[in-house]
Amino acid sequence: MWDTLWVDANLATMREGGAPYGAIQRGAVAAKDGRIAWAGYAADLPGHAVDLAREVRRCDNAWITPGLVDCHTHLVFGGDRAREFEMRLEGKSYEEIARAGGGIISTVAATRAASREDLAASAAKRLAGLTRDGVTTVEIKSGYGLDLENEIKMLEAAGELAARGGVRVKRTFLGLHALPPEFKDDRAAYVQLTADVMIPAIAAAGLADAVDAFCENIGFTAEEVDYVFSSAVANGLAVKLHAEQLSNQNGAALAARYKALSADHLEYLDDAGIHAMAQAGTVAVLLPGAFYFLRETQLPPIQKLRAAGVSMAVASDCNPGTSPMTSPLAALNMACTLFRLTPEEALAGMTREGARALGMLDDAGTLDVGNACDLAVWDVKSPAELCYWLGAPLLRERVLAGRVA
Ligand code: NIG
Ligand code: FE
Repeated sequence: MWDTLWVDANLATMREGGAPYGAIQRGAVAAKDGRIAWAGYAADLPGHAVDLAREVRRCDNAWITPGLVDCHTHLVFGGDRAREFEMRLEGKSYEEIARAGGGIISTVAATRAASREDLAASAAKRLAGLTRDGVTTVEIKSGYGLDLENEIKMLEAAGELAARGGVRVKRTFLGLHALPPEFKDDRAAYVQLTADVMIPAIAAAGLADAVDAFCENIGFTAEEVDYVFSSAVANGLAVKLHAEQLSNQNGAALAARYKALSADHLEYLDDAGIHAMAQAGTVAVLLPGAFYFLRETQLPPIQKLRAAGVSMAVASDCNPGTSPMTSPLAALNMACTLFRLTPEEALAGMTREGARALGMLDDAGTLDVGNACDLAVWDVKSPAELCYWLGAPLLRERVLAGRVA
């Protein structure tokens, strides 16, 4: 006997290789002990629905997808950057503002001043935006504390969101996000602190699953990232990288050398970086919200990534500076309109490929038996509608570990 059975539904299983979207029309999904126990054509069910499960949920021909996986966010932070938005509208660039001590550093000040409870409370509001769009797994980065105490505070706030239930959270330590003001005359000391003190402490406390860095002319050099990545690996953490967002720093190739889960942004990625990512199986995480918000004109090399067989994920990059966007569905729309992804690629980017970018493909991202039963049930007539509407309330029901959340 299954716990719950969803019927009168169409499934976008997002399995690779078969029909577009891995579609199964007139399908059914069953949950047992929080996992997908059955998924297929309703006609193949081994009996009458009411005899098979304790609860039968009828879906009026809705589409069911895997719960969305938003694999790159900076959901936890203090304050906002609306003033910086105004400055950029007056003609200042993101880099100019950062070099003048604004940008990420202004969020660092606000984050240091906030309590863990404040951070969790403000992040919970943004998280509500994500879950309203069907997200069941979210990655959350630190990187606005930039010292051990405040980085831990951020990661604990992210942990608190997970502990409240309603969403799965993967946490990433982003020590090399910006140079904190107290180290402005000693970069090497901050890189060392990150690699030799913060990573071992955070890993030992089980506060993060991965380590990220911002490899950029206003961030950190490939050499500095290399040093921090070796510590990550030595401490048993996965790595990923903000790479080639504003300029080409050969960050993606470095990430690939470390078998990184993902390299993210990638507007300035070159052929050597693409090749290295393809060889390493590093996922390209596309962040159209940041592209849009910064009014970037250089597109990530989508066609070349496709041709090289690099997996492409799509994420919101929700953050106060470059992507103050709490709608993953809006990111799907932007991935299609701005980056020319097909709706199927975009939706795969926020399900299967998002899960791949978090190293959890064997548990999430597709409607495969054995995966966690995390579902999004949508009032749409085709999966492409999820990428087509902008701001429409499409979610009918969200399911986490087999329970309607
Ligand atoms: O993903 N590029 C670095 N990190 C963020 C921006 C952070 C910020 O501006 O606060 C990003 O774009
Ligand atoms: Fe980011």
